[in-house]
Amino acid sequence: MNDETIHDDVRAYYRDAARTRGTAPGCDDRFGASQYDSDTIADGTSTAANLSMGCGNPFAMADLRPGEVVLDLGSGGGLDVILSAKRVAPNGKAYGVDFLEEMLGIARANAAEAGVSNVEFLHGMIEDLPLPDASVDVVISNCVINLAPDKTPVMTEIARVLRPGGRVAISDIVADDGVAPSMSGAEWADCGAGALQKGAYLELMTSVGLVEPSIEYTHETSPGLNGAIVRATRG
Ligand SMILES: C[S@@+](CC[C@H](N)C(=O)[O-])C[C@H]1O[C@@H](n2cnc3c(N)ncnc32)[C@H](O)[C@@H]1O
Repeated sequence: MNDETIHDDVRAYYRDAARTRGTAPGCDDRFGASQYDSDTIADGTSTAANLSMGCGNPFAMADLRPGEVVLDLGSGGGLDVILSAKRVAPNGKAYGVDFLEEMLGIARANAAEAGVSNVEFLHGMIEDLPLPDASVDVVISNCVINLAPDKTPVMTEIARVLRPGGRVAISDIVADDGVAPSMSGAEWADCGAGALQKGAYLELMTSVGLVEPSIEYTHETSPGLNGAIVRATRG
């Protein structure tokens, strides 16, 4: 499969999810479901929470502080952006980037419902971020990087938009070293087939200028595939 076919499959999958509000067909146990506790969900909006299709809780790992600028890669229904915006208020800001106008529309409506105004949802690719160099304090993402056919431009863009000392706090699906997940189209969008192996993931982060990279497994999603917390700092 070429990269454009994968992007088209992922778009089709999430367009369906946007239309059905999160009930797109696919793997039985999608990445072990959301890792949010009820207090966190109560702080967002139920609509955003219902559409959350992540595999972790990057917002909780990110240790956000008032005044910071946060960027969520693949913002979907907007839950992680809304929660982050509340944490960095009043002077901070949370951006979400997504390549589907349908998801951006839902996220903007959810942010309005949650009463947060320090948010901006931008149309774009995580491989080509619509933000200037060194403009972000923290990059978060919830189960989206595994969807990218080529992770190198994604990591290069993360390093570009982060300020020196800026942080990465990402939930993702990571494959054990030596495990090559299968690559049919539907499985790429829904079952972690695009997951990078742990060693390659760590090497890639270092190669783009991220320092002290770490990957901590949180739960196994299928044999050889793991929900994981990915951290690093911009050198
Ligand atoms: C797992 S969901 C979003 C999770 C979201 N953070 C949440 O918890 O609600 C994935 C989202 O990433 C978007 N996406 C996937 N690949 C993308 C890419 N290459 N560039 C931009 N957005 C992408 C999809 O459209 C979808 O809305």
